[in-house]
Amino acid sequence: MSASAALYQRVQRVIPPMEWPVFVPDIDAILSLKRQRRAVILAHNYMTPEIFHCVSDVVGDSLLLAREAQRVDADVIVMAGVHFMAETAKLMNPDRTVLIPDLRAGCSLAESITAADVRLLRQRYPGLPVVTYVNTSAEVKAESDICCTSGNARRVVESLGVPEVIMIPDRYLAANVARETGVRIISWAGSCEVHERFTPAQIRELRAENPGVVVLAHPECPPDVVDEADFAGSTAAMADYVTDRQPGRVVLITECSMADNIAVLHPKVSFVRPCNLCPHMKRITLPGLRRALETLTHEVTIDPAVADRARLAVERMLAVG
Ligand code: 13P
Ligand code: SF4
Repeated sequence: MSASAALYQRVQRVIPPMEWPVFVPDIDAILSLKRQRRAVILAHNYMTPEIFHCVSDVVGDSLLLAREAQRVDADVIVMAGVHFMAETAKLMNPDRTVLIPDLRAGCSLAESITAADVRLLRQRYPGLPVVTYVNTSAEVKAESDICCTSGNARRVVESLGVPEVIMIPDRYLAANVARETGVRIISWAGSCEVHERFTPAQIRELRAENPGVVVLAHPECPPDVVDEADFAGSTAAMADYVTDRQPGRVVLITECSMADNIAVLHPKVSFVRPCNLCPHMKRITLPGLRRALETLTHEVTIDPAVADRARLAVERMLAVG
């Protein structure tokens, strides 16, 4: 069997046979360019299946991508994800080339706050530690005490051992973590444009239409949506839930591609699929990845003075475990 036929066997449940031939030339080119360039592709769980399953070397949530960015043995790292993820990979690899295929792959949370905003918050609430979601720019991380992801937010906040913290910029993640930990949280008015669109009424409707469905929600969803779910966790925690418990029918209250990627691995689980796309994640395509490897663009750079301080906040997070 040819290499591309073997790859297609893997994704055939989510990529129609008519579409596959369009992907094959780019997949072949990317696999060969990766060898030539000694490059690896780190891919977030929201990538489309032809990227996630056919060309990526490491796949996972933001926490895993940050950890693995520290460990990879390669000359070039290509981020199949959004800009803040590429910046985090660069923070962990100042001497390696880190590429993002499309500079427009941003994030509504990262856009919602600046370094000057963080300095003002510190003036307004002196002495409170600043916990910053990784979905932020390196400049914002540099003004922070410690970073967190949705996978470790609770542990990071609890590790500080204080009754009150500043947690930016996602107001919903902050509200969800405040409820879990009992720690008072000063937050910011940022939100994820994908997760804020889910509503409790939508979840109740999904349950009515799909009796017995298990509902898994991302903690960037508003708390009243999380209240309607059976479980809330990072994209990796949702994937683990499906792997460990094999629910008969499940719905992932998160970005659209995630269900496709997990469905490939769990043929016995039936997925209900409301579809909220992240327009930023969807900027990353196979032709874009191929171009990035051919031309070594777009290289991510960070002012070294900013990078040193931002790296400290990420390293403190990774040390929490
Ligand atoms: P995870 O860290 O859970 O993968 O989330 C990242 C993200 O951007 C969710 O919208
Ligand atoms: Fe940002 Fe939301 Fe897109 Fe994740 S899904 S990258 S938080 S806009």
